[in-house]
Amino acid sequence: MWNYLWIPLLISFSKELSAAKAQSTILLPTGTGLEEPMMSPSCSAADPKLNFRPVIGIVSHPGDGASGRLSNATNASYIAASYVKFVEAAGARVIPLIYNEPPEILYNKLNLVNGVLFTGGWAKSGRYFDVIEGIFKRRMMQEIHFPLLAICLGFELLTMIISKDKNILESFKASDQASTLQFMNDINVEGTVFRRFPPNLLKKLSTDCLVMQNHQYGVSPERFGEYKELRSFFKVLTTSADSDNKVYVSTVHAHNYPVTAFQWHPEKNAFEWGLSMIPHSEDAVQVTQYVANFFVSEARKSLNRPPARKVLENLIYNYSPTYCGKAGKGYDEVYIFAQPSAL
Ligand SMILES: *[C@@H]1O[C@H](CO)[C@@H](O)[C@H](O)[C@H]1NC(C)=O
Ligand SMILES: *[C@@H]1O[C@H](CO)[C@@H](O)[C@H](O)[C@H]1NC(C)=O
Repeated sequence: MWNYLWIPLLISFSKELSAAKAQSTILLPTGTGLEEPMMSPSCSAADPKLNFRPVIGIVSHPGDGASGRLSNATNASYIAASYVKFVEAAGARVIPLIYNEPPEILYNKLNLVNGVLFTGGWAKSGRYFDVIEGIFKRRMMQEIHFPLLAICLGFELLTMIISKDKNILESFKASDQASTLQFMNDINVEGTVFRRFPPNLLKKLSTDCLVMQNHQYGVSPERFGEYKELRSFFKVLTTSADSDNKVYVSTVHAHNYPVTAFQWHPEKNAFEWGLSMIPHSEDAVQVTQYVANFFVSEARKSLNRPPARKVLENLIYNYSPTYCGKAGKGYDEVYIFAQPSAL
């Protein structure tokens, strides 16, 4: 069987074979015999309205992400590397927004990015809360395209900020749990994070446990509906159920801004291994990839074109991640910030 397939292939390659051997690279049978690389005349110019070098700011969270195993510095903060990989895999670079940096430095960095990601975690008060609120308000009130992705704690904080009720959260049992997403009846996925999901995968989201939940708080659809500010800012796209079958809002999308918030963790399926229930199937990994592609495609629409040098000085590449997955539980790799960052 294999032999039959190979015969015509070998014949068509035979002309190029000697040249290919000499270079130890395989030349494709283009039929031109050209050995010099040539620009294809069919490559059209890049869309000038898009930014093909998007940069995403990720806000660091208090602590070392590993319960003091990596750093006990009182001002340590961290970003789980999975969020960085999630953004990088979709074609963007990352600038850490270190939450306890002097505010003038922190907020200046917003001018260097094309979108912001709020991560998971536990901090819901103090300086961290103020910074999340500060970033959200600063950017949302400006009339520029500035995408924001808020994950887990990020989702919870946005509901607290927008509803102006710090007690809006309810308790749910959804620690280390994979779940489905139940789409609202009137949902139109156009313009949302789900717009490019293949129909098959979209369907499977509601039948297979393809998304990772890891939270003890949330907002029920009933509670969500009680707040006029929340309803007018966000459209509820999906709900999920906890281990007691209590239903909570799991994905929301802003009506008028490129803001999407998830109670679940789109980044974990492809990049975290420390929790037992994280789904790693091909479908689950595609969920990670489609969400990341959506976010970065929104960032490419940002008109912000920061000075290249300033971007390089602040990129996450100035830091090294630390492997902490060996001890089990939690994150596999984290970036820790315990020093003032260079600027
Ligand atoms: C942090 O403090 C704890 C408790 O004192 C200790 O067990 C741990 O080794 C410390 N971590 C580091 C990185 O020094
Ligand atoms: C953290 O603390 C160290 C030492 O106390 C200090 O030098 C540094 O500026 C602090 N870093 C941040 C980000 O606050």
